[in-house]
Amino acid sequence: MSTTTEVGGRDRLGRVTQDAIAAIHEVLERHKVTEDEWSAVLEFLTAVGKNDEFVLLSDVTRTSVLVDALSHAADESATATDVEGPLYRPDPPWREAPVKLYEDYEGVEEGEVLFVRGRVTSNDGAPLRDAVLDIWQTGPNGGYDIWDERQPDFNFRGRFGVAESGEYEFQTMIPKPYTVPTEGPVGRYLEAVGQHPWRPAHIHFKVTADGHQPLVTQLFFAGDPYLDNDTIGAVKKSLVRSPERHEDEAELRERGLEAPFFTCAFDIRLRPLGG
Ligand code: BEZ
Ligand code: FE
Repeated sequence: MSTTTEVGGRDRLGRVTQDAIAAIHEVLERHKVTEDEWSAVLEFLTAVGKNDEFVLLSDVTRTSVLVDALSHAADESATATDVEGPLYRPDPPWREAPVKLYEDYEGVEEGEVLFVRGRVTSNDGAPLRDAVLDIWQTGPNGGYDIWDERQPDFNFRGRFGVAESGEYEFQTMIPKPYTVPTEGPVGRYLEAVGQHPWRPAHIHFKVTADGHQPLVTQLFFAGDPYLDNDTIGAVKKSLVRSPERHEDEAELRERGLEAPFFTCAFDIRLRPLGG
C-alpha cells in the first residue's frame, strides 16, 4: 500500500489504518470484550507472527480473495487472477523443453501423468513469445515438496519459456485436494470457528511478459469435491478445466508412457500495462 498517496488531506495508509482501528473498536464495544479475551486475541496474533502464518490467516479468512478482487477489476478479455497463497518459493529451477515439472521419487507411480498446454497471448490474441511461466503445485500424494520428505527439493515447481507462437506445454501429475497447514495457530483458529482446512486440487501459475501485467492465478479441475467449498474461497468458474484421458497405445508410445495419461488445455491472456 502506498504511504504517499494523499486522500482527503491524509495519507492513504494512515486513513485506512484509522478506519480499521475504528472498526475493531466498534466490534469490541458491541461484544463487550473483556481484558482476558483481548489478551487472548493478542496472544493469538503474536503466535501467528512467530509461526509466519499471517498470509495463511489472510487466506483462510478469505481476506486475500477480497483484496485480489479489489486489486484486479473483472476483465473478461484476460485470464482471471487468483491469490498466491503462502507456498510459493522464489527462484525455482529453470526447466528446458520438453518441460517435466518433477523428478521421479518413491511414491510417484501412484499418480497420473498430466500434460498442461496452451498459448500465452495478449488480451487481443497476439502471441507473447517472451512470456515466462512459473508453476508450483502438490504432487499426486504427500503434498508440496516442503512437506514430503520423499520428494527432491523444488519438485513440482519450475520456470520455463514459451515457443515463438506463445505455446507452452509441461508434464506434471494430477494434483489432489489437500489441507492447508493445521498444526499452528491458524489450525486452532479453523477448529474454533468450525471451518474445514481443505483446498480443491489446483496448479499455481505466475506468468510474466514484457509490456504486460504479471498474472498470478490457479487452475482447477472439474468434479473436484471442494470446488464449491475451498477453505480459502479462491475458485473461479473461468479457471476450472476438464482434463481429457488418453489410453490409445500409439499415443502412449509417442509420449514414452506405459499408463494412460491426461491432457488439459489452459490458454493464458495477459493485460497490457496501463490497459
Ligand atoms: C495454496 O494453495 O498453496 C495455499 C493457499 C492458501 C493457504 C495455504 C495454501
Ligand atoms: Fe496450493
